[in-house]
Amino acid sequence: MRTILVTGGAGYIGSHLVDALVARAYRVTVLDNLEPQVHRSGAWPSYANPRAAYVRGDVRDRSVLEPLVLAADAVVHFAAAVSVGQSMYQIDRYVDVNTRGTALLLDILVNAKHRVQKVLVASSIGVYGEGAYRCEAHGVVAPPIRPEAQLAARDWEQRCPVCRAGVVSIATPEDKPLYRDNIYSMTKYHQEEMVLLIGKTYGIPAVAPRFFNVYGPRQSLSNPYAGVAAIWLSRLLNGRQPVVFEDGGQLRDFVSIHDAVDCLVLMLEKSGADFLPVNVGSGETVTILEIARLLNRLLGTDIEPLVTQTGRRFDIRHNTADISRAVATLGFRPKVSLEKGFAELIEWARTTPDVAVDFFDRALDELSEKGLLVRS
Ligand SMILES: NC(=O)c1ccc[n+]([C@@H]2O[C@H](COP(=O)([O-])OP(=O)(O)OC[C@H]3O[C@@H](n4cnc5c(N)ncnc54)[C@H](O)[C@@H]3O)[C@@H](O)[C@H]2O)c1
Ligand SMILES: [Zn+2]
Repeated sequence: MRTILVTGGAGYIGSHLVDALVARAYRVTVLDNLEPQVHRSGAWPSYANPRAAYVRGDVRDRSVLEPLVLAADAVVHFAAAVSVGQSMYQIDRYVDVNTRGTALLLDILVNAKHRVQKVLVASSIGVYGEGAYRCEAHGVVAPPIRPEAQLAARDWEQRCPVCRAGVVSIATPEDKPLYRDNIYSMTKYHQEEMVLLIGKTYGIPAVAPRFFNVYGPRQSLSNPYAGVAAIWLSRLLNGRQPVVFEDGGQLRDFVSIHDAVDCLVLMLEKSGADFLPVNVGSGETVTILEIARLLNRLLGTDIEPLVTQTGRRFDIRHNTADISRAVATLGFRPKVSLEKGFAELIEWARTTPDVAVDFFDRALDELSEKGLLVRS
């Protein structure tokens, strides 16, 4: 395996993977349309690795995609529209880029003569909906998303779907029943299912990394949809309060970009996880309020988060990664602590001009306008 095509390779995760692949002497080609929401300058980002080849084009364009697939030994398909909130009102665009883009890739793999030996398709924590929980009476349970009335009553914690008793959050394994609660997550689910199905049917090894909260340099801080850590960092750097929905007790798994990339390289080079979805997380759990505190401490600021005590309709309560599949099948071992990883993120944000423009309020207004915030 020598030549690797990375779609979306100018983006955050893709570009870090490109660096790692180039360092391992792969020949890398990036296909990216430089989506304006991500690349505001309209140019290739300054971090784009000069040792890779770059093609500006859309994954939905067969005349561009097909020759690149035919020249590759492996395809990493990361190009996607990536915002949960936005997907709830730009439905056509999200389904078209994510689902149809993947359908076209598979159509090429099935109908053209190629030599692709591995396909990775970016999936997401979003395919789970809520994480896994344990009920004292009913064992491991998978509750659906909380009803709106529950959020309006500020009753944040999940209940057992069988007996309605309180439940405790446990790490989510890949075989938890999946619930998609927004269009973005539906498209990620379809991408993953389609790639794994066609992979199995035609004997093309495929893996679907399910990314939890991947954080690190190059994460778009000014893209309001990009992830809570980046949004808060952007607020704090602007001297403003980070906004925390509900009570801040939501549990998440934040994984450093470097650990995520290590895991992706293992997926490409090893066969242990072929034909499977695989959680990509740190295996450590943290509340989002703890993240806000950690950012404050590392920045040397003391800006209390604004805890809204309001819910958003498509939000889940807890979801943390059970990474035992990646550990057992690939030998994955996360190495970067939260402390070290966030210090690196901050250092990058501080030294990168124009990175921390605060667009958060505008994004919030948009969500509010579309009735996606639950007010009590
Ligand atoms: N960042 C995370 O924590 C996270 C979590 C779950 C899943 N993911 C998935 O990982 C993948 C990469 O995410 P990211 O955070 O690097 O996002 P990103 O927005 O930084 O990168 C996506 C790249 O795809 C490109 N792109 C978008 N539409 C395209 C099109 N039609 N044709 C060609 N290129 C196009 C964009 O220009 C961008 O460079 C995505 O598929 C995303 O759904 C990311
Ligand atoms: Zn129960």
